[in-house]
Amino acid sequence: MKRTKIIELLQRTDYGTQVTVCGWVRTRRGSKAVNFIALNDGSTIKNVQIVADVERFDEELLKQVTTGACLRVTGTLVESQGAGQASEIQATEIEVLGTCGADYPMQKKGQSFEYMRQHGHLRLRTNTFGAIMRIRHQMAYAIHTYFHKHGYYYFHTPLITASDCEGAGQMFQVTTKNLYDLKKNADGKIDYSDDFFGKQTSLTVSGQLEGELGATALGAIYTFGPTFRAENSNTPRHLAEFWMIEPEVAFIDLEELEDIEEDFIKYCVRWALDHCQDDLEFLNKMIDKSLIERLRSVCDTEFVRLDYTEGIRILEEAVAKGEKFEFPVSWGMDLASEHERYLVERHFNKPVIMSGYPKEIKAFYMKMNADGKTVQGTDVLFPQIGEIIGGSVREEDYDKLMEQIKERDIPMKDMWWYLDTRRFGSCPHGGFGLGFERLILFVTGMQNIRDVIPFPRTPKTAEF
Ligand code: 4AD
Ligand code: MG
Repeated sequence: MKRTKIIELLQRTDYGTQVTVCGWVRTRRGSKAVNFIALNDGSTIKNVQIVADVERFDEELLKQVTTGACLRVTGTLVESQGAGQASEIQATEIEVLGTCGADYPMQKKGQSFEYMRQHGHLRLRTNTFGAIMRIRHQMAYAIHTYFHKHGYYYFHTPLITASDCEGAGQMFQVTTKNLYDLKKNADGKIDYSDDFFGKQTSLTVSGQLEGELGATALGAIYTFGPTFRAENSNTPRHLAEFWMIEPEVAFIDLEELEDIEEDFIKYCVRWALDHCQDDLEFLNKMIDKSLIERLRSVCDTEFVRLDYTEGIRILEEAVAKGEKFEFPVSWGMDLASEHERYLVERHFNKPVIMSGYPKEIKAFYMKMNADGKTVQGTDVLFPQIGEIIGGSVREEDYDKLMEQIKERDIPMKDMWWYLDTRRFGSCPHGGFGLGFERLILFVTGMQNIRDVIPFPRTPKTAEF
């Protein structure tokens, strides 16, 4: 008989029907006469209860029904006698598809997240990681739905690139050269002419530059793909490999860009509230008691729009009143997570969209303000997370863009194609990047970014 997914089974009330379910044993308890098996198949956080009358089954078979074992169970769907579930299965056949010994690492409840990371290949079988992965799927679906509905095209940008979009030099090189025997030129520099691509290439830190080519042809595009950063920051907010969503839109100004950021992120959070109720309730109970309330509040409040200069003034005022920050506050500095969180969680108590940053702390492509000092960059700062989105209106003026490229010594040889967008029919445009895992952190209430991606890549760890 074809198996029924547990999520569907638990909706059914056609008691008396024969059903088959498959899944992994969460727990088995019971008496001499009857065993109760909680079975989970990953389709929902909820388990189905299997009732097995001991006399109907071989003793040796029931001994194999241990935590983690994989079963196929056929039986009758019945209305449950016990509390906690509406229906259960009165088993007639139990087949052990895969036994699971006492050395199963996910056996005990309440293991630390650090322990789970060390067993990352099996942590997916736990309630918490099941919930997170289902929410992750829902968020990806929400993102595609949002952009599709708003007329953006899903645009695929390359993962291997010769340009450093953010100019921060945090790239992983891609090469087929023999690292033990590198050909060097007369200056002692590596000669890449015989490398696979005939030049130095890396994994992308952002699809934005190619995304701009798409937007200035198709009007509005978005990317959604893996992104790589060799930043040696071992923090709960950084991954070396993460997923980024980068919409890019022609003919918009800063205010319209910020409107999209706010509308988009609220749509995603609302989607989670509407489509992930069971998993969110579980996480709210087990991980963070204020999670659902925080998600609701983000959907219902208007984000603060804050100029960088005003933000610095607020932080300086806080310092004057005795607030202690690890990093000193002054105009021109890049905000640290503690500053962002002070503004969002303590001062405004709402998400903040900040703009008007000093040009020195932002990338070359951002549109210059009339003051010649600040740029139209916009970061969305979130409670618990800090920066969740980074974006900007782009400099569409060829000469001004060239000035910034020269000021920063950006090598021109791999940028000519980007500059062509400003030479041939240049247009005002802008976009942003949302860190997918930062969104998942926010929506799940988890504390560490390593726990919201199936297989995290961070400095010194590339296991599984
Ligand atoms: O602020 P970032 O560096 O901006 C860009 O890359 C732009 N090119 C985006 C654009 O305008 N199209 O990165 C964007 C977002 C951050 O706000 C953060 O959410 C996430 O990407 N992010 C990371 N997430 C996890 N691990 C890392 N190491 C991250 N670096 C950035
Ligand atoms: Mg940023």
